Amino acid sequence: MNAKIDELLKRVEEFHPKAAAEIEDFRVKMLGKKGELTALMEEFKSVAPERKRELGQKLNNLKQTALGRINALREEFAASAASAPAEDDLTRTGTAEELGSRHPISIVRNQIVDIFSRLGYTVAEGPEIEDDWHVFSALNFPPEHPARDMQDTFFIEKHPDILLRTHTSSIQVRTMERQKPPIRVICPGRVFRNEAISYRAHCIFHQVEGLYIDRNVSFADLKQSLLYFAKEMFGEDTRIRMRPSYFPFTEPSAEVDVSCNLCGGKGCNVCKGTGWLEILGCGMVDPNVLSANGIDPNEYSGFAFGMGIERIAMLKFGVPDLRLYFENDVRFLHQFDSVL
Ligand code: PHE
Repeated sequence: MNAKIDELLKRVEEFHPKAAAEIEDFRVKMLGKKGELTALMEEFKSVAPERKRELGQKLNNLKQTALGRINALREEFAASAASAPAEDDLTRTGTAEELGSRHPISIVRNQIVDIFSRLGYTVAEGPEIEDDWHVFSALNFPPEHPARDMQDTFFIEKHPDILLRTHTSSIQVRTMERQKPPIRVICPGRVFRNEAISYRAHCIFHQVEGLYIDRNVSFADLKQSLLYFAKEMFGEDTRIRMRPSYFPFTEPSAEVDVSCNLCGGKGCNVCKGTGWLEILGCGMVDPNVLSANGIDPNEYSGFAFGMGIERIAMLKFGVPDLRLYFENDVRFLHQFDSVL
């Protein structure tokens, strides 16, 4: 019996199967009902008592080694099967491909760009990491002026001149540097503000800003362009109203509301009973901004406007919480599959 145990142990150690099926055969031959190891266990019952201790230990060791080897080999084969390419089975049913769709922010951004391109605007883009000049100084924010606090800015600690742009007005500055009037650009892009994240605010969001500079550009042109935009975006019956406001780079400045597209202006919980929804800021480009950018304010005038894409998309699609745009839960995103 001693010799038989040694022989089986050797076979276990030298077992190197080439296919997974061999492992099961081996297991049956060893540990199956009629297996050799099983037979030894049976034989062990009639071993003389004085030899039981020694042989019992050896037999037990053999059994554990065999089981351990079988399990290890099984895992080895399962792992290599998982990483090996499946054999081609041309009769297998295909797996459906999930189609992606556009993100609602991209959808609305494209719609805004589309509407203004019909008015002759072209798209301009610029860097997200900016300097003080392009975000503030060139836009008539005096140093130390409290207007800089209107936009909670992320600065780079070691370089107070470097910051994340808080609005895409910086692109308008870059456009004026490059181009002489007439200028007609819209500037879509991602902007950053140090705001606490909630259902109506985020530290990252998207804007589209516009700039139009030429001879004799008037406030009436601004108003008409924005009315056209509002009707194209929210429907033919949409009205707008302008409320006086303040921005350092425009004078006069206004905030623009559209009539609530959900209740038609009667008042509902989205427009908080007022019938109006604020959508953008705008104004006539301040002469200081024109001069700072090398454009003669006596010859040229212009208007500028800026809006948050998240906000427009919220109003258009009835999205109740801004954070949904950033979480990218496919159950949210799939709701926009049919919108182009
Ligand atoms: N830059 C302003 C903002 O981010 C929006 C704006 C643009 C207002 C142009 C007036 C004119 O809040």
